[in-house]
Amino acid sequence: MLFSFGKTKSIVGLDIGSSSVKAVECAVRGKGVELSKVGIAQLPAEAIVQGAFLNSGAITEAIQEAIESADIKVKNVATAVSGHSVIVKKISLPTMTREELEESIRWEAEQYIPFDINEVNLDFQILEGADLEGQMDVLLVAAKKDLIDDYVHVISDAGLTPSVIDVAAFAVENAFDANYDSDPEEVVALVNIGSQVVNINIIAGGSPAFTRDISTGGSVYTEEIQKALSVSWEEAERMKIGGVGPENSQDVVPQEVEDAMRNVTDTVLGEISRSLDFFSATAAESRISRVILSGGGSKVSGLEAAFQGKTNLPVERINPLARVAPSSRLDAEFLEDAGPSLAVSLGLALRRMDD
Ligand SMILES: Nc1ncnc2c1ncn2[C@@H]1O[C@H](COP(=O)(O)OP(=O)(O)OP(=O)(O)O)[C@@H](O)[C@H]1O
Ligand SMILES: [Mg+2]
Repeated sequence: MLFSFGKTKSIVGLDIGSSSVKAVECAVRGKGVELSKVGIAQLPAEAIVQGAFLNSGAITEAIQEAIESADIKVKNVATAVSGHSVIVKKISLPTMTREELEESIRWEAEQYIPFDINEVNLDFQILEGADLEGQMDVLLVAAKKDLIDDYVHVISDAGLTPSVIDVAAFAVENAFDANYDSDPEEVVALVNIGSQVVNINIIAGGSPAFTRDISTGGSVYTEEIQKALSVSWEEAERMKIGGVGPENSQDVVPQEVEDAMRNVTDTVLGEISRSLDFFSATAAESRISRVILSGGGSKVSGLEAAFQGKTNLPVERINPLARVAPSSRLDAEFLEDAGPSLAVSLGLALRRMDD
């Protein structure tokens, strides 16, 4: 967590994505967790571009709309940052205590962070596991202060209180942990395909072994369809989601759409698998055992199968409600449709409970 302002009783998980804002509230029910409230509000296409908040007013409005549509009353918010202004690195340091590391982390981090150390918020986690020859593994997290400030502003302007700032890839992991049994021997690649960012988080031995965000996702499909057919963004988005699935009659989806989508899937999967290959080449002991997809971009028809074909790994879409039980007040069809997109917001909403 990059930021945590004390412990709060209740928290809203707020995922400010470049295509939509998702707000989630959970509650403890007996021995389990209930998904109590969910609100989603679309953002205009140019409000967030490459992680930059170009239209803060529209983002604040979307936050309010998501919160109000879900009837959420809680004010404390956990949110997540991602993209190229966020660096997550596993580093090896001489064994020391937490206190000692707190003293020296800025100095240690400097060589790993491609930004001015004075312009980032830093956090770290000492990873459990073998203390080999006086060395320990540390997960280093840095995010540009400008980026954090942008999040704090839109959340405050929406009348809410920013309480926790996390990293999107870690929030996905949290949602995964809440819903799946994890075998510590297993190496799981969590791949969250959003609109403009793909968050990759490879979990080995129960903690992140490799984390990387790449700048691609669902919006690339929309752009390519737009170009191929000279249609508006909205029209292209509709064609993409209308899809080329078996339930849609082929003649309403022009061949060009199908071709454009297949090409983009090839490119997107190429980029993702390069990262997975990089991990495999550098992490000696670790072979990826399976891939869990999330994010709205994972719903592109044929993507799951193409992923499996390309990597030869078992690939499945996350079920964020495998263990988290939805409130009976929530619409099942809405949840089914939104499910993959809720990984980050759900993982954030669960932050307080597992602290
Ligand atoms: N049924 C569908 N078929 C294809 N694409 C879909 C479908 N549903 C949603 N998408 C796409 O998923 C993307 C949105 O996913 P998500 O909500 O995970 O992204 P985001 O969090 O808003 O963006 P980011 O994290 O990249 O900033 C959009 O590009 C949207 O068009
Ligand atoms: Mg997202």
